[in-house]
Amino acid sequence: MAPLFSAVLVLLLVRHSAADVSDMDYGGVPLWINRFLGEPSVLSLQGRMDPAWFRANNPQACPLQCECPIQWPTALYCDHRGLADIPDGLPDRTQYLFLQRNNISSLSSSVLANVTKLHWLILDHNQLQSAKLDQAALQNQTKLYYLFANHNYLSSVPSTLPSGLRQLRLAHNQISSISSGAFEKLLNLTLLLLQGNRLQTITEGDLKGLLSLNMLDLSGNNFLTVPRHLPASIEQLYLSNNSLSGLDRDSFVSLLNLKYLRLSHCGLQSSSVPQQVFNISSLVELDLSYNKLITIPTVPTTLQYMYLEANEIQGTRGRTMKAGVGLFSALALFLLMGAVFTQRNKPKKPTRRPATTRKPSVPKPAVPAQPEPQEPTDFPPPILGPPSIYPDCPRECLCSPSYPNSLNCENRNIRVIPVIPSRTHYLYLQNNYISEVTAEAFVNATEVRWINFANNRIHRIDKKVFDKIPSLLYLYVHRNQLKEVPAGLPASLEQLRLSKNRITKIPAGAFNKMENLTLLDLYHNQLSDSDLGRNTFRDLKSLMQLNLAHNILKKMPDGVPNGLIQLFLDRNRIDDIPKDYFKGFTHLAFVRLNYNQLSDKGVPKAVFNISSLLDLQLAHNQLASLPLFNGNLEHLHLNHNNIESINGTLICPFDLHASLHEDSLVPKLRYLRLDGNHLSPPIPLDIIMCFRHLHSIVI
Ligand SMILES: *[C@@H]1O[C@H](CO)[C@@H](O)[C@H](O)[C@H]1NC(C)=O
Ligand SMILES: *[C@@H]1O[C@H](CO)[C@@H](O)[C@H](O)[C@H]1NC(C)=O
Ligand SMILES: *[C@@H]1O[C@H](CO)[C@@H](O)[C@H](O)[C@H]1NC(C)=O
Ligand SMILES: *[C@@H]1O[C@H](CO)[C@@H](O)[C@H](O)[C@H]1NC(C)=O
Ligand SMILES: *[C@@H]1O[C@H](CO)[C@@H](O)[C@H](O)[C@H]1NC(C)=O
Ligand SMILES: *[C@@H]1O[C@H](CO)[C@@H](O)[C@H](O)[C@H]1NC(C)=O
Ligand SMILES: *[C@@H]1O[C@H](CO)[C@@H](O)[C@H](O)[C@H]1NC(C)=O
Ligand SMILES: *[C@@H]1O[C@H](CO)[C@@H](O)[C@H](O)[C@H]1NC(C)=O
Ligand SMILES: *[C@@H]1O[C@H](CO)[C@@H](O)[C@H](O)[C@H]1NC(C)=O
Ligand SMILES: *[C@@H]1O[C@H](CO)[C@@H](O)[C@H](O)[C@H]1NC(C)=O
Repeated sequence: MAPLFSAVLVLLLVRHSAADVSDMDYGGVPLWINRFLGEPSVLSLQGRMDPAWFRANNPQACPLQCECPIQWPTALYCDHRGLADIPDGLPDRTQYLFLQRNNISSLSSSVLANVTKLHWLILDHNQLQSAKLDQAALQNQTKLYYLFANHNYLSSVPSTLPSGLRQLRLAHNQISSISSGAFEKLLNLTLLLLQGNRLQTITEGDLKGLLSLNMLDLSGNNFLTVPRHLPASIEQLYLSNNSLSGLDRDSFVSLLNLKYLRLSHCGLQSSSVPQQVFNISSLVELDLSYNKLITIPTVPTTLQYMYLEANEIQGTRGRTMKAGVGLFSALALFLLMGAVFTQRNKPKKPTRRPATTRKPSVPKPAVPAQPEPQEPTDFPPPILGPPSIYPDCPRECLCSPSYPNSLNCENRNIRVIPVIPSRTHYLYLQNNYISEVTAEAFVNATEVRWINFANNRIHRIDKKVFDKIPSLLYLYVHRNQLKEVPAGLPASLEQLRLSKNRITKIPAGAFNKMENLTLLDLYHNQLSDSDLGRNTFRDLKSLMQLNLAHNILKKMPDGVPNGLIQLFLDRNRIDDIPKDYFKGFTHLAFVRLNYNQLSDKGVPKAVFNISSLLDLQLAHNQLASLPLFNGNLEHLHLNHNNIESINGTLICPFDLHASLHEDSLVPKLRYLRLDGNHLSPPIPLDIIMCFRHLHSIVI
C-alpha cells in the first residue's frame, strides 16, 4: 500500500519565510512524516533553533559541520552549508541525514561505511554527478527507504540502488537514460520522481521490477509519445510538459489501476487524441489543461476531477458533458483555476422558472440598434424617419404600416417627446436625450400599454402624464436620472423598471393599489432602510420579482409580499436576517444576497430552510459555516466567505446513516460553489454521500 496515503501520516508544516518554502520543494511532492515512527518533523534547523544550544546541551557526538538536536537523536542536520563533501565521522546512530543545499558532487562508499541504519538520505540541491557516484555506495543501506536527489547534475539513474527503497526522487537532473535493470530489485518502490529531466524513451527493461510503483512523474522530459512498458501498478501518472505528437488508442490500456493522469501543456490536439483513450474505468482525475483541444474526449463515469482550462473548446460542450449517475459517479468536479473565463462551468439554468406574466405581443423595432448616446457637449440634431403614410406620425419616429400600434422613436437623438398618436399601444423612446416627461405629448395617448424610456436623462416625470394613460402595463425607465420613484403611477402597472437611477426616495403610497404588479426593479439606486416603510410594498399582491440589489440597505426590507418568487438583495450592507423573515413565503425560489455583510451571527441557522427555495446565493459575505437548507434546494453559492470546514453530516437534510430508499428524499442539490473560502479538496465523503445529485462543486 502506498505510504503516501496512510492515515496516520502527519503532513509536515514548515513555513517561516518565503525562501524556505522553495527549499522544502522535495521534487514538488510533500514529504509525509510519521511521528509515531520517530521521524523528525522538521527538515531543516536553519533559522529555527539556536545551534549553539544543542552543542552545549547534547552529550552525543556530533560532526562539526552538522547539528544534532536532542529531540531527534537519530537525525543529523548538515544542510545549507556549502559543504563540498559529506562530512566524515557520521555517528552510527544516524537514521535521518539532511544534506540538502550543499555543494556535494560525489558519493563514495567509504563515507557511509559506519552508518548502517540510514532511513532517509536527503541530497536535494547539490551538484551530484553520475560519474562521481560510487556504484556501491548505497549497496549495503538495507534500511534506506527515502533517497532524494532532486536538483542535481545526474545524467543517469544510479544503478545498484538499495532494494528497500520506497521513494526515489530524482527530479530536475539531466537524466537521459535509465540503466537497464536499475530498478530490478526495487519491489517496494512506490514513488518515482523523474520530472524535469531529458528522458526520451523508456525501454522494456527500464522499469522492470517496480511491482509496487504507485506514482510516476515524467513531466517536463523529452517524450514524443506516451512511454510504453510502464508498471501496471501505477495509479498516478504525470506526463505534463512533454511535446506529445498525439496519443494512441491504447496508450493507457495496460494501466489497469490508473486514477490520476496529468497531460497538461502537451500540445495535444483533438485530431490526434482518440475519442476513447481516456475512457479508463479506474480514472478519477484527468488534467488536460493548456492543450489545443477543441472537443472534450469521452471520460468514464468514475471521473471526479477534470481540468480543461486554456484549451480551444468552443461553445457549450463543456457544460453539457455529463457524468454518469450513481453515488460517487454523480460528481464531476471541474477545478477552475486561472482567469480563463470562457472555460468556466457556468451554473445551469434553474429547471423551474417563475411564471412569466402575460406579455402583450410586441413587434420588434425595425430600426437596428445604434450605439448609445455618449455625453455630448452639444446634442446632435434629431434623426428624422422616412416619410410615413400616417399623417400623425412624428417626424422623428418610425410608423410601420405592419404594426400600426407601435411607435418606434428610439435612437433618434430626441430631446423633446413628440405628440403620441392615439392609436399607439407600444411606445419606444429608449436611447435618446429626453430629460423631462410632461403631459402635453400624451394628451391623446390613452391607449398606451407599454413605454420604454430607458437610457435617457430623465430627472422628472410629471404625474399628470399617468392620468392620460390609465391602462399602462409596462413602464421602463431604467438608466435615467430620477431621484425618486415617480408619483401617480397607474395602478394597472404589471412591470416597473427603475434600475440605475439615483433614487433616494419612495413617496408614500407610490405602489398603492398596484394589485397586478409582478416585477419591480429598483436595482442600483441609493435606497436606504428608512426609504422603505412597512407599507411600501403592502398592496403588491401579485409581485413575483423584487430587485433591490445594489442599494445601501442595512436591513432586510420590511413587508415584502410573501407570494414573491425572486428576491434580489445583492450588494447592500445587510448584516442580519430576522429569524422568521421568510416565514409564510410559499413560492420563494430564488434568493440572492451576494456581496453583503452577513456573518454567522446575523444568519439564524434555519432561516433558509424554505421548502420552495431552488437557488440561494450568499457569495462574498463573511459566513464561517454553512446555513441549513431544505432538501429541495438545487443551487447554492457560498463562494468567497470565511468557511474553513464543512460537516456534511450536519448539513445533510436527512440522517446519513439511515438507509434511504425513497428517491424523493434525496437532497436535490446539483450545483455548489465553495471557492474563495479556506477549503481545499478533497470534498468530504459525507457531502458526496448526502448530496447524491450533486453535479458540480467548485472549490
Ligand atoms: C557552492 O557552489 C556555488 C556554485 O558553484 C558557488 O557559488 C559557491 O561559492 C559554493 N559554495 C561554497 C561554500 O563553496
Ligand atoms: C568508521 O569508524 C571507524 C572506527 O570507529 C573510524 O576509524 C572511521 O574513521 C569511520 N569512518 C568514517 C567514514 O567515519
Ligand atoms: C557491504 O557489505 C559487504 C558484506 O558485509 C562488504 O563486503 C562490503 O564491503 C560492503 N560494502 C560497502 C560499500 O560498505
Ligand atoms: C518490502 O516491504 C515489506 C513489507 O514492509 C518487507 O517485509 C520487505 O522486507 C521489503 N522488501 C525489501 C527488499 O526491503
Ligand atoms: C510546465 O511548464 C510551465 C511553463 O514552463 C511551468 O510553468 C509549469 O510549472 C510546468 N509544469 C510542470 C508540471 O512541469
Ligand atoms: C467507455 O467504456 C465502457 C467500457 O469500459 C463502455 O461501456 C462505455 O460505453 C464507454 N463509454 C463511451 C461514452 O463510449
Ligand atoms: C387629439 O385627438 C383629437 C381627435 O382625434 C384631435 O382633434 C387632436 O388634434 C389631437 N391632439 C393632438 C395634440 O394631436
Ligand atoms: C388587474 O388585472 C385584472 C385582470 O386582468 C383586471 O381585471 C384588474 O382591473 C387589474 N387591476 C388594476 C388595478 O388595473
Ligand atoms: C426545515 O423545514 C422542514 C420542512 O420543510 C422541517 O421539517 C424541518 O424540521 C426544518 N428543519 C429545521 C432545522 O428547522
Ligand atoms: C459532523 O457532525 C456530526 C454531528 O454533529 C458529528 O458527529 C461529527 O463528528 C462531525 N464531523 C466532523 C468531521 O467534525
